[in-house]
Amino acid sequence: MLRHDDVARLMNDSRLQATDIAMPVQAGVTEGVLFDIFAHGMLTANGDVHARRRSPLSRALANQVLDQFRQHVRKAAAALIDASMQTGRLELASDYAAKLPILALASLLEVPATDIADFARNIYAMNAFFRPDPTDEAVADAETAAQWVQNYLDGLLTQAERDRSRGFLAQYLEFTEEGKLARSEVLVQIIQLIIGGTESVRTALVAQTVQMLSNPEQWRAVCSDPTLVPNAVAEGMRFEPGIAGVVRVSVQDIELDGWTLPAGQLVLLSFVSALRDEHIFDRPDIFDLSRPNLKLARLAFGGGAHKCVAEAMGLAELEEGLSVLADRLPGLELETRPRFQGHMFVRKTSACWVRWDR
Ligand code: HEM
Repeated sequence: MLRHDDVARLMNDSRLQATDIAMPVQAGVTEGVLFDIFAHGMLTANGDVHARRRSPLSRALANQVLDQFRQHVRKAAAALIDASMQTGRLELASDYAAKLPILALASLLEVPATDIADFARNIYAMNAFFRPDPTDEAVADAETAAQWVQNYLDGLLTQAERDRSRGFLAQYLEFTEEGKLARSEVLVQIIQLIIGGTESVRTALVAQTVQMLSNPEQWRAVCSDPTLVPNAVAEGMRFEPGIAGVVRVSVQDIELDGWTLPAGQLVLLSFVSALRDEHIFDRPDIFDLSRPNLKLARLAFGGGAHKCVAEAMGLAELEEGLSVLADRLPGLELETRPRFQGHMFVRKTSACWVRWDR
């Protein structure tokens, strides 16, 4: 599905369902933690099972204080820039956009500072399975890393139970008891939070910065007026969304403009296409943060039952990530232009060097 209105409408149509274990099976993965992420996770579940798995997480997230989260992200972003300040160069994808969402998750999950390097390395390796075109070796490494992440989270949950802490994990555990989630389900939803909260943010952070720096007038405008940051982020998500689209399966025939989409088909609802639909967005291939209908870019967070469970956190990371760059490095310039790949789900970005005068 390519047109904006079809994609937006069908995101909410129960005749299109999440794909359960179709994706790992197609990739030849039929057991292990990677398989369990699909078999026991919310993202690929439907109906009551989906609601039961999603509800504890969304309730625990709703209890978070967003302003505190933003402050934390801001501090983490400033520290990442400080680490490279004297070199005058930064590889934005690995050294900023990949690290910021992991630091944000680490604070939410109360990962001790001494564990963050291992936590980050294993998340990055696990995520390879979800990026476009993983090699066999990357899939094998992703399984090992996913086992590490699962064991590590199990330890954090046990610690939260033991300490009777009031943090996010303790609250989440309390809500899972009401929903009677099995321990494997409890763990997998946190793993999905990690997967959902890292790759999408990484690509979107790089993409929005590249567009800003490619349009120096708009970059200067944002640097001198920080209230423009939310518009810049929305236009960045429209122009190069972090998630290319979502795949569903049709469970009934669907009539569309006199055509029939038959039951039993895999259907791609394409955000990259919908967000450049010329019937909705004037001059769609131009980056323009003064568009009147930027709220439509929220389609990049999906819709219907599976709409991003952490949209507010994702936006906070993108906005603070851009705002700190504009504040600290207004003379930033693009040195190498990255390539964005992937048209189904998670997208990936190649390296992106930026530089500034020291
Ligand atoms: C640029 C930032 C983000 C984008 C573009 C994005 C996009 C999306 C989209 C499109 C979906 C729907 C998937 C589907 O319908 O199949 C989704 C779901 C989800 N997202 Fe996000 N997301 C972002 C940030 C985050 C963050 C920061 C987190 C966690 C900290 C997160 C966690 C999740 C989870 C767990 C789901 C599954 C919800 C469900 O199946 O009910 N996302 N996201």
